[in-house]
Amino acid sequence: MRVSHFFWSRLHSLSGVVPVGVFLIFHLWANSAAFAGPAAYNRVVRLLESLPALIVVETLFIFIPILYHAIYGFVIMRSARYNVNRYPFARNWYFVLQRATGVIVFVFIVYHVLTMRFVGPAASFAKVASELSNPWGLAFYIVGILSATWHLANGFWLFGIDWGILVSPRAQQVAGWVLAVFFVALSVLGVGSAIAFVA
Ligand code: HEM
Repeated sequence: MRVSHFFWSRLHSLSGVVPVGVFLIFHLWANSAAFAGPAAYNRVVRLLESLPALIVVETLFIFIPILYHAIYGFVIMRSARYNVNRYPFARNWYFVLQRATGVIVFVFIVYHVLTMRFVGPAASFAKVASELSNPWGLAFYIVGILSATWHLANGFWLFGIDWGILVSPRAQQVAGWVLAVFFVALSVLGVGSAIAFVA
């Protein structure tokens, strides 16, 4: 294995957790202000928008890492590392799902960032509500959110394997259960917030 390949794949793995994974958790948590209604949500939006040098921070710590993770993710998908015997049966499906959710999340993020951050009126409860009041819009968001939460939860498990944190079969099994709970909790937070915009 070439050193550069090792470096870039470690960077891909790390970027999925920090900063992209951490940002996803923060983003879904911040959006859950929607549960408290339009005024509370708009206050959170204004607060975030008032942070200094926001576009610079977003570019350095969110856009570039996600773009890198996505581009290298596509490289991984194209490479011939597919080996259906690598994991037990369920893990084979997770292997495929990790890639499928990566592609869905990519399409979702491009659309989501363009429409919510760069096109149309400034971010607000009303803007999100008008997008999600369309059943297709809501369905698209729910699929995007669930793909992201699943990708992150299974990604944490893969990260644990890749970095030698989850070594014994028992540790891998326990982590699997903990991450299943994490997936459900983060999904309830994310999907619940999306529904709160139109409920
Ligand atoms: C919300 C955005 C995303 C988050 C939070 C995220 C997070 C993660 C994490 C934590 C991992 C595990 C790293 C490891 O294997 O050690 C991972 C792996 C991966 N991600 Fe992402 N990711 C995101 C978006 C994407 C996108 C857009 C793509 C591709 C288009 C992608 C493709 C992949 C691939 C191919 C793997 C490797 C799976 C493997 O080695 O078996 N990810 N991601």
